[in-house]
Amino acid sequence: MTGNEIRRKYLEFFKEKGHAVIPSASLMPENDPTTLFTSSGMQPLIPYLMGEKHPAGKRLVDSQKSFRSGDIEEVGDNRHNTFFEMLGNWSLGDYFKKEQLNWFFEFMVSELKLDPKRLYVTVYSGNADIGVERDDDSIKIWKEIYKAHGIGAKDYDNGESLGMRDGRIFYYGDDKNWWSRSGAPANMPIGEIGGPDSEVFYDLGAELKRHENSQWKDKPCHVNCDCGRFIEVGNSVFIEFIKTDGSKRAATNGAHANEKKGCFEPLKQKNVDFGGGLERLAMVSEGKDNVFETDLFINVLNKVEELSDNKKYRDNMKAFEVIADHMKGAAFIMGDDKGVAPANVDQGYIVRRLIRRAIRFGRQLGITKSSWAKEIAQIVIADYKEAYPELERNAEFIINEIDKEEDKFMKTLVKGEKMINGDKMDGEQAFNLFQTYGYPIEMTKEICREKNIVLSNNFDNEFKKASVKHSDLSRTASAGKFKGGLADSSEETTELHTVCHLLLESLKRVLGDHVHQKGSNITAKRLRFDFSHSAKLTDEEKSRVEKLVNEAIKAGHQVSFEEMSLDEAKKLGAEGVFESKYGDKVKVYSVGNFSTEVCGGPHVSNTQEIKGVFKIKKEQSSSAGVRRIKGILQ
Ligand code: SER
Repeated sequence: MTGNEIRRKYLEFFKEKGHAVIPSASLMPENDPTTLFTSSGMQPLIPYLMGEKHPAGKRLVDSQKSFRSGDIEEVGDNRHNTFFEMLGNWSLGDYFKKEQLNWFFEFMVSELKLDPKRLYVTVYSGNADIGVERDDDSIKIWKEIYKAHGIGAKDYDNGESLGMRDGRIFYYGDDKNWWSRSGAPANMPIGEIGGPDSEVFYDLGAELKRHENSQWKDKPCHVNCDCGRFIEVGNSVFIEFIKTDGSKRAATNGAHANEKKGCFEPLKQKNVDFGGGLERLAMVSEGKDNVFETDLFINVLNKVEELSDNKKYRDNMKAFEVIADHMKGAAFIMGDDKGVAPANVDQGYIVRRLIRRAIRFGRQLGITKSSWAKEIAQIVIADYKEAYPELERNAEFIINEIDKEEDKFMKTLVKGEKMINGDKMDGEQAFNLFQTYGYPIEMTKEICREKNIVLSNNFDNEFKKASVKHSDLSRTASAGKFKGGLADSSEETTELHTVCHLLLESLKRVLGDHVHQKGSNITAKRLRFDFSHSAKLTDEEKSRVEKLVNEAIKAGHQVSFEEMSLDEAKKLGAEGVFESKYGDKVKVYSVGNFSTEVCGGPHVSNTQEIKGVFKIKKEQSSSAGVRRIKGILQ
């Protein structure tokens, strides 16, 4: 059964049980400043788990796009992905443990045809400190379920020290069988919701012998030991508690009120939050022991083989898996309707890290052709566009941004790699690599590990210090200099700023000398430019303007400036002198012999540094006698 089929079957199965199928929420969470990405199915549903009415009802089912940046460096074992699909079914104060555990088991056995003898489960062992008891209800339900399948099911505690013995049902504590966005009860902030959970594990078989070779080899194997033999395929969370400061409860009976530990009070309603990773379910139902061998990755891996001149996945597993995982993650983050482009902060930084790390591993595989990363993204789009049509809607953006990022990174990759040399590296050097060559700190560390370069003791602090120093500097610079229409001082914004000068001059040449700048606003992605002119531009005028701008970019004009008095600037015929807002002395920027304009900067030093082809995306009226152009570098 393919991943697409499993997704469809799961939605169908729960639809038949009265659930409304809801679409995946965005990967960029709304009203949730605590995380950069949606990393579980329950995140977008929190208000409804807390009691708000969901418009689709009390039973919901979905497949939620999820991304866990914390797993970037885990990719390469048999089961971790950064991006994954979380199949989820939800009871918002409707059904509870009995239905949930029975239904999921039924789905696995009847629909996915998994052998019930390979399924093991865990339940919450309880914690007297927070007043929540062992989940005996679930133990009882599981025993009945196994019995119905003719399987005896003994239950045991202490799997960590005593191992599996002959058990089926195992109890674990706060770290393993309690779920909230912030983990164990002790880590939950006041106001957070969560509850005990029950996980299902699939036994990939003792013959895998992963355990013997793993760091757990001297300890007993048990379902949660992480050796890779047992894989978690689903988690039913019983979200029924909210952590409070205990003041209300203390006022009534004083039980469990403890300021430090918080107090776990029942929510208005008992909820079920089930989450199962589609990739893992596909893996076990396809009889594989590695998520990357499922149909959800196979087309991408084949493409990597082709691009790397027939290197084989089996011989280069980590590099293939990093490329496949990271390019899928990047495509989904950029292809979201709230899509994010590579950048140096926030979600954009993660996208940058993903693309650059994938490219670096591609180089290790000997992929030499340029502009290859987008070919992987194209496969991801084709594989997933039916389930996630936004990928196709935003395909152009995904492909363009990947191409631009690859181009930028390739220009500095070799130089950067040469800089990572010697026996030692400190955090300030790493910051310079980030600043000059766009090397994410994590990547620098990884390369150092590969080359046995020792990191200084204070590495992370040095990096932080250097970056704080730098951002102070650039804040000062921008406060003093870039009062105009620039959103930031990134490379892209600077390039587009120089393009504005080329655009103004080109408009004058095509439309006439009455054209003057009326305003501008520039971000890293686009420019907005207002100018005096009263008629709509014809297609022919627009393409003549684009052509002039692009020729000027290609011509490689030097950009320079001179400080002079306003009068001198006027004599020179510089654009922008009709207003005296600049004071006595002004800076006049010249782009070769193409244009002269009063301006505060910053600009590129040569027009050839401008990457891409200028394109007018929109031309419209802004106010009487003023037209507005939106333009981009493609
Ligand atoms: N919230 C749980 C998880 O993410 C189940 O959906 O594992």
